Amino acid sequence: MLRTHTCGELNKAHVGERVDLCGWVATVRDHGGVMFIDLRDRYGVTQAIFDPTDSQEAWQVAQNLRAEYVIQASGVVEARPPAMENRKLATGAIEVRCDRITVYNKSRTPPFPLDDGEAARVSEDLRLAYRYLDLRRASLQKNLTLRNKMSLGVRECLTEKGFTEVETPILTKSTPEGARDYIVPNRLAAGTFFALPQAPQQYKQLLMMGGTDRYFQIARCFRDEDLRADRQPEFTQIDLEMSFVTPEDIYEVIDAVLASVMRASGHGDIDLPLPRMTYDEAMNRYGSDKPDTRFGMEIEDLTAIFADTSFKVFGQVIEKGGVVKAVNVKGLAGVPIRAIEDWTELAKDEGLGGLAFIRVQEDGTWKSPIVKFFSDEEQASLKKVLNIEVGDLVLFAADKPATVHAALGRLRLLAGAMAKAIPDGKFSFTWVTEFPLFENDAEGRLQVMHHPFTSAHPEDWDLLESDPLRVRAQAYDIVLNGVELGSGSIRIHNPETQARLFKALGIPDEEAQNRFGHLLKALSYGAPPHGGIALGLDRLAMLMAGAQSIRDVIAFPKTQKASDLMMEAPSTIDEKQLRDVHLEIRRPEAE
Ligand code: AMO
Ligand code: AMP
Repeated sequence: MLRTHTCGELNKAHVGERVDLCGWVATVRDHGGVMFIDLRDRYGVTQAIFDPTDSQEAWQVAQNLRAEYVIQASGVVEARPPAMENRKLATGAIEVRCDRITVYNKSRTPPFPLDDGEAARVSEDLRLAYRYLDLRRASLQKNLTLRNKMSLGVRECLTEKGFTEVETPILTKSTPEGARDYIVPNRLAAGTFFALPQAPQQYKQLLMMGGTDRYFQIARCFRDEDLRADRQPEFTQIDLEMSFVTPEDIYEVIDAVLASVMRASGHGDIDLPLPRMTYDEAMNRYGSDKPDTRFGMEIEDLTAIFADTSFKVFGQVIEKGGVVKAVNVKGLAGVPIRAIEDWTELAKDEGLGGLAFIRVQEDGTWKSPIVKFFSDEEQASLKKVLNIEVGDLVLFAADKPATVHAALGRLRLLAGAMAKAIPDGKFSFTWVTEFPLFENDAEGRLQVMHHPFTSAHPEDWDLLESDPLRVRAQAYDIVLNGVELGSGSIRIHNPETQARLFKALGIPDEEAQNRFGHLLKALSYGAPPHGGIALGLDRLAMLMAGAQSIRDVIAFPKTQKASDLMMEAPSTIDEKQLRDVHLEIRRPEAE
């Protein structure tokens, strides 16, 4: 045995024991000829002392130790003098007086300090290029362990509920999840390609057709899309699908999964069932389909109050069928005008003509460029509906509902953060149900909001051809603290309905056959009604860990430009490899 204990284990109960510890040298201090070494492994840090009076030989070696050397240190556990105890450290009550040392390996000077406090100041690219060093930091090790606990919690919970974990192929055909595919050339047939799955969507539906009844998988997904703090080109889903279900059955399972994840992550019990709201309600109250329900400051509809207003800006909007809405930000009346100007720019980016506001001053008067246009009645109604008090900042938007929601939804988050209205350490889940089936893309073409296997709300099928944008889907998202954790739906289970949907989307029969023929065929052999959902495990882990980015909960993440700086991937391949897969690189034309 190379070690008797880990570096996070020893305490007063071990005093007097002889121990062997292994780990990395975190710090070396020379106190008047006695060497103090902080020895670190993933379990913690232990102070080792080398005193020439204990062993001249070991002390000699200790004198030459540098950061990140890998050593074994052997000695006897001693209680620290009370004044020297370190309460912040689990092992802070003891130290190990060492008389033997083995240096397993030296280390070059690391390119950055491997200390959680210091690392935050180092460029992330540098840390990613040396990820194996970065991973020695306690916080990253903690995140990896947390993620493992979460996966275990999920597997336990779903297995107990009768789900079977099934692996689905990575080399497959493209699935329509809306991003670009990563493709893999096929050596055996020139000009043909596999796609890496954006999600196991079609396979899990095919598993239902195969009678699997309750499937889940902690599944890798691949999407070539623009990256952000909560997006990676490869990521992991807690993916599941169930036969003979309604949305209720899915909510119940996911509620239980999330409760078990919260418990496994040390956040205790949560109240079930998790709250729900419809998509329309989310847009109306929070201006977002991923509402941050940790705080109030909801959007209020003032259209009725201003129905006969003489304030032209609002009046004209209402006349054209638009709406006037506002949020009341408590305590932000003193916000610098600069911030309001920035928010106005942002509102304009969302398509709003401008942003109107009221600041309520200490003496109760309203400071605002627009109040002079409001009648006494309008002012009284505003005061009541928005609960206007001293110190408030009210932000108004008038336009089409979608524009007003987008603008006030964003401002609510920014102003809420500035007003410190968003509590730390709170977990606020909500289901958002009854998403629309379709939306218009930038060119005004009808497209599905989720994916084209999503079933319409049973009451809305009649509108499919006549008024598609009003069709509600049996689609739902689960949201935590304003982050979309997961998304799912009840699927179409008969081929005629599926064909009808492709038609509504303007996908010609031939193309539907080409792209989804396998699925249409399978539907025609007795597909059970089925539905499911997928949760982003990385996002969930990020929120459970209180991390700022999903990169902090992934062992080897990629950069915003989708590259792995440590492996230097992606990279070129040699001519022979290219020839094997029948590819030739088109070099950019010479100038
Ligand atoms: P969707 O595409 O909404 O649905 O994805 C489900 C969840 O996966 C996570 N996610 C991501 N996480 C990190 N990086 C990404 N690039 C990324 N993209 C998505 C999100 C998201 O909510 N097959 C359907 C699910 C279904 O209908 O059952 C699907 O994949 O947390
Ligand atoms: P204007 O008449 O354009 O000078 O606008 C008068 C006030 O209304 C200004 O304070 C604008 O910022 C505000 N305003 C203009 N358009 C809108 C809008 N669509 N929603 C809310 N406020 C607006």
